[in-house]
Amino acid sequence: MGNDEPFVCDTLTVETEGPTAVITINRPHLLNALDEKFLKELELSLDRFSEDPSVWILVITGAGPKAFAAGADITSMEPMNPAEAKEFSRLGHRVFAKLEEFPGVTIAAVNGYALGGGNELALCCDIRIGSENAKFGQPEVGLGIIPGWGGTQRLIRTVGRANALYLLLTGRVIDAREAHRIGLLHLVVPEGQVLARAKEIAGEISKKSPFAVKQAKLAILRGKELPLAEGMKLEEELFGQCFSHPDQKEGMRAFIEKRPARFRG
Ligand code: CAA
Repeated sequence: MGNDEPFVCDTLTVETEGPTAVITINRPHLLNALDEKFLKELELSLDRFSEDPSVWILVITGAGPKAFAAGADITSMEPMNPAEAKEFSRLGHRVFAKLEEFPGVTIAAVNGYALGGGNELALCCDIRIGSENAKFGQPEVGLGIIPGWGGTQRLIRTVGRANALYLLLTGRVIDAREAHRIGLLHLVVPEGQVLARAKEIAGEISKKSPFAVKQAKLAILRGKELPLAEGMKLEEELFGQCFSHPDQKEGMRAFIEKRPARFRG
């Protein structure tokens, strides 16, 4: 995936702009419903970018004005037997774990419905920005199923037990303001501006030390399940490692010399 070369699959498109890649879910006629092919194409993109240090910020959005993604593709799930459904869930878990653990920053630019698997996809991103028309929910109980791509586990870790139970048990869809209030969204922006705002934030992050940004994410990812004392040990280790990287001297010298830092990453 050469830098600045558009990369087109059946279910998504990828465009790189310097260190940022924009991945657009591209099934607008089905409100960007997510099927097995999407999961495999997303995995391919993540694998490629994980090995390409020149691209370290991913923005994920949906094509069209209505949806980020209205969930897993119901038509393709309807005939599944229990073993096939479990396999579909396992595939989603594998790919979404790669997204969550991407060695760089991931930003969800939620431009409409983020339901079911769409919300689960956004939950794997580090930063979530929603347009005023964005809508969020885990409506699976209305289909006779539960979330299968991490919704029962990641939602509670993001919005807490009370909010997760409310969304999972009622299947209710909430608007962007409510999503912001419960901590599901970091920012709400006017309709039509969500991708531009996500790119703006990507641009801000791209001026920081890539090494330090990745160390900060690593501290959170590796530390999230640790007891506090072990988390602190991990932080000591990662903090120390920053001082073995040229970005530390550059960042601190730039501050002392009152000039912008030029990070190598
Ligand atoms: N799967 C398959 N097709 C879908 C879809 C989905 N999740 N969501 C929307 N579509 C399709 C519709 O069937 C419709 O297709 P046709 O034009 O061929 O009929 C097209 O997208 C447009 O959708 P609507 O006509 O329904 O649009 P609307 O504006 O009236 O309603 C909506 C929008 C409220 C989002 C509604 O489409 C909807 O409820 N979608 C399903 C949401 C859902 O239940 N998501 C959870 C899926 S299960 C899951 O994700 C499990 C998991 O954890 C892995």
